[in-house]
Amino acid sequence: MLIRVEIPVDAAGIDALLRRAFGRDDEADLVQQLREDGLLTLGIVATDDQGGVVGYAAFSPVDVAGVDRQWVGLAPLAVDESLRRQGLGEKLIYEGLDALNEFSYAAVVVLGDPAYYGRFGFRAAAQYDLHCRWPGTETAFQVYPLAEDALNGVSGLVEYSAPFGRF
Ligand SMILES: CC(C)(COP(=O)(O)OP(=O)(O)OC[C@H]1O[C@@H](n2cnc3c(N)ncnc32)[C@H](O)[C@@H]1OP(=O)(O)O)[C@@H](O)C(=O)NCCC(=O)NCCS
Repeated sequence: MLIRVEIPVDAAGIDALLRRAFGRDDEADLVQQLREDGLLTLGIVATDDQGGVVGYAAFSPVDVAGVDRQWVGLAPLAVDESLRRQGLGEKLIYEGLDALNEFSYAAVVVLGDPAYYGRFGFRAAAQYDLHCRWPGTETAFQVYPLAEDALNGVSGLVEYSAPFGRF
């Protein structure tokens, strides 16, 4: 198993994995749109011995209260069903956080189960007065500061890019 930054040749494998893992087209279509619009800040893939894509994490830019603060959103995250619960999701996330940290991004937000993302250090965004526009996401919306002062004096609406508007 190899965990690495995605390259153009991975696109078809990522697309197939997302359709398989979510059992629908939304996430794959979203990633295609983000890629077309140049909004994929970072993509991390897990590949098997044959080079097939079996895991994927995408990061794309978000604004905070209308300002670009070098924050990104993690979405989607997927691991092939046959390979779940072996720490692949965890590796994808850590690799992504590491790379983003190296590139000096300031923070990462995610919409997901706190029981899962909490273990990586994501915390409820609401406690910092940060929210996203989807209703009922007060506990699911979380933030992970990469820079020490990333959350200081920052609050308000975290807005994902236009392709997310379709969801
Ligand atoms: C979520 C997902 C990426 C996790 O991948 P994974 O490789 O199994 O993750 P890990 O091995 O790092 O972690 C598995 C652990 O997290 C837990 N876990 C996995 N998904 C979870 C979830 N949605 N909520 C809470 N806990 C979860 C498992 O119970 C397991 O815990 P355990 O090892 O203590 O039993 C994978 O289940 C998946 O692709 N699901 C379908 C797509 C999806 O829902 N993606 C997330 C939303 S974008």
